[in-house]
Amino acid sequence: MDQKTLIEGLDNMKVFTGNSNPDLANKICDYLDIPLGDAYVGRFPDGEIDLKINEDIRGADIFVVQSLCPPVNENLMELLIFIDCIKRASAARITAVIPYYAYARKDRKDEGRVPITAKLVANIICEAGVDRVVAMDLHAAQIQGFFDIPLDHIYAFPVLCGHYKSLNLPNAVVVSPDVGGIKIARAYSKKLNIKMAVVDKRRVGPEETEVGFVIGDVAGKNVIMIDDIIATGGSIAQAARVLKEKGANDIYVGTTHPVLCGAAAEKLRGAPIKEVAVTDTIPLDRRTKLLGEKISVLTISGLLGEAIRRIHTNESVSALFV
Ligand code: R5P
Repeated sequence: MDQKTLIEGLDNMKVFTGNSNPDLANKICDYLDIPLGDAYVGRFPDGEIDLKINEDIRGADIFVVQSLCPPVNENLMELLIFIDCIKRASAARITAVIPYYAYARKDRKDEGRVPITAKLVANIICEAGVDRVVAMDLHAAQIQGFFDIPLDHIYAFPVLCGHYKSLNLPNAVVVSPDVGGIKIARAYSKKLNIKMAVVDKRRVGPEETEVGFVIGDVAGKNVIMIDDIIATGGSIAQAARVLKEKGANDIYVGTTHPVLCGAAAEKLRGAPIKEVAVTDTIPLDRRTKLLGEKISVLTISGLLGEAIRRIHTNESVSALFV
């Protein structure tokens, strides 16, 4: 049976989740107006993953939502075991919905004797038996090509842009905290109809970056600084300080994936940043909630829910972003 005939025959869509981000999975199900699939994802006494799907999924169109946030390896393994379980339970199609795709920052060999983990993780997800993938704001768009199956790339852009439109900041400028983020910053600058600037950042270690100069005018302006990930918070905190030195007014940071590891919360709290807006691709832990009023969490559940609905009904997903 070809894929089209197969999917047209499906009236049975189910959404399951592992333990990485159940709140998001529940919100996606609320959007779709379906109950979350019934599964047990626990641990054996030795730490191995114990998984059982508690309902019939034979012939169904299955979506498994799992963010690869910390604990990264546990969450990745849960996803792989989930896919294996769904495949063996005779689902018609399996889609991995990965709101945050980890190991993405090693996407090429930029020096000798290093792995390309973004490709390795794509290989093992495919090998587990998934038919398609939905991913959100991949660190590098070319990671799509690491999967030899259909991948729908979803952007948090409409949600974050909507937030900044509602703030209606006077005299604002979009800033990319590094050269790699210029394309996405340009999209925001176009949508918000404001100018953009770029911080010249160089990474000198896993937790250290060096900032050279700022290209563009930020003096006296409210800054909307957009980055895909905040991990240790080093890049954003340092960029914010440099922007302040250049005379920026209030600094607003918008980020899709709040990994916020190590001392990130402390770094962001101590930086000259008015607000950090993040999405719920990754749940915030108790410590990062200490950022209090400085952090705003925007949900991307509607976007992911709509993408899932469109995939199920064979409608365009890219039409969501025009
Ligand atoms: C880098 O290319 C990314 O877009 C982020 O700027 C970076 O991964 C953030 O890392 P950290 O928060 O540890 O500086």
